[in-house]
Amino acid sequence: MSGKRGLFISFEGLDGSGKSTQIARLAETLTARSLDVLATREPGGSAIGKRIRSILLDSRTAGLSPRAELALMFADRAQHIEEHIAPALKAEKIVICDRYTDSTEAYQGFGRQLGAQVVLDLHRMLCQDLWPDLTLLLESELGASVARARNRNQSSRSSEGRFESEDAAFFRRVHEGFEKIALRETNRIVRIPAGTIQNVEAQILGIVDSRFPQLTNRAAVTR
Ligand code: TYD
Repeated sequence: MSGKRGLFISFEGLDGSGKSTQIARLAETLTARSLDVLATREPGGSAIGKRIRSILLDSRTAGLSPRAELALMFADRAQHIEEHIAPALKAEKIVICDRYTDSTEAYQGFGRQLGAQVVLDLHRMLCQDLWPDLTLLLESELGASVARARNRNQSSRSSEGRFESEDAAFFRRVHEGFEKIALRETNRIVRIPAGTIQNVEAQILGIVDSRFPQLTNRAAVTR
């Protein structure tokens, strides 16, 4: 994509790494500066994507092949980009997305062992080769974050447990996958060490403001 556009920020990390809390806080802070923010997520960022998400995450979706899983992740993303992300960027909004193609590389490429290349090839073909301007990788201790995700899954009695019920070896591969991606994408990806909610929030805001100083000279809430 070319021409003037908004900003695209993605959040990545293991299940239970605290992305959704941090996304809500960042969106709130930027909105309070009168900036136009679209906070969204994958899978499930569009109406069609919500239906794809329910197939992907439902623990009753037994026997979904890794390649079919990969294709559904990209079907969700292609729809999400065309319907929401690209138009929002064109309208110069700030798009904050909970997971994007790095998740596909980490979970399907490394976790399911389909390899990184097929993910990057599909991204180029199906996603207009659109990459975030900045990706915040929330680091978390492997065991703790998986336990938190499992708990959350059980306590909400949701049926969205297909990934959470994977074994430790799967999550270890995903974790290592994220590390490899971060080492390759040093310009785009910033790793955020785990900490308290307030501490992580402050680190994130510091990075966003130093990367995008145009976001800082906005008057605080005028509404
Ligand atoms: P979600 O409930 O959104 O989890 P979280 O809050 O931890 O992000 O579930 C998304 C699940 O889908 C998560 O386990 C990661 C997985 N996933 C993939 O395997 N590949 C992908 O490309 C994406 C976007 C998500």
